[in-house]
Amino acid sequence: MIDTPSDPVFGPPRDKTPIGILISGRGSNMRALVDACDAAEYPASVRLVLSNDPAAPGLAWAAEQGLATAVIDHRAFATRAAFDSTLNARLRATGVEVICLAGFMRLLTAEFVLTWRDRLLNIHPSLLPAYKGLNTHARALAAGEREHGCSVHFVVPDMDSGPIIGQARVPVLSGDTPETLAERVLKQEHKLYPSCLAAVLAGYRTLEGARAAGTPHTL
Ligand code: GRF
Repeated sequence: MIDTPSDPVFGPPRDKTPIGILISGRGSNMRALVDACDAAEYPASVRLVLSNDPAAPGLAWAAEQGLATAVIDHRAFATRAAFDSTLNARLRATGVEVICLAGFMRLLTAEFVLTWRDRLLNIHPSLLPAYKGLNTHARALAAGEREHGCSVHFVVPDMDSGPIIGQARVPVLSGDTPETLAERVLKQEHKLYPSCLAAVLAGYRTLEGARAAGTPHTL
């Protein structure tokens, strides 16, 4: 007979993993993650919403929800490395264990990315590896694509190049503009990101359960 609760593969039950969400703008993907985290059974909780831009509309929304928010304005730093170092210190000090980039418009240094390896996720509005970078919807339309979509991936030092966790596809319709296509993709983004984060966290728990029970995971 299989005694599932004591099977070490599944490991001990854990509390919600504290995540940090990094934004630069409107923050609709951040909202989707916040909404998912509100569910009791979802495996993450939002520890911090952080923006590099004090005027990011998503930041005001997060503060209104009573979430902890922070601004680290990149314009106050002479170098990318100095900004990333302060960012890293703040995330660690607040106990963030997994970072979700959600429209965060800053390139991160290789040092930062490698420090957070396997704990740093991003959402990108294309079916990677196609259309890395900006203006993905206009480029997909210009190329005559019949299908477009979005990807959630682990972040590696090369932009938009890390291992893909999940993708969602949408049709390109005749008469689509970059805006109508973006709207269709965005709806899928809001489902894909929470679903991929949950899958990643489930994977961590399986791995941790295979280690000595009770050993805390350290970054
Ligand atoms: C999304 O399309 C996301 O895929 C990309 O930037 C956009 C951010 O939108 N990385 P929002 O701020 O989450 O609404």
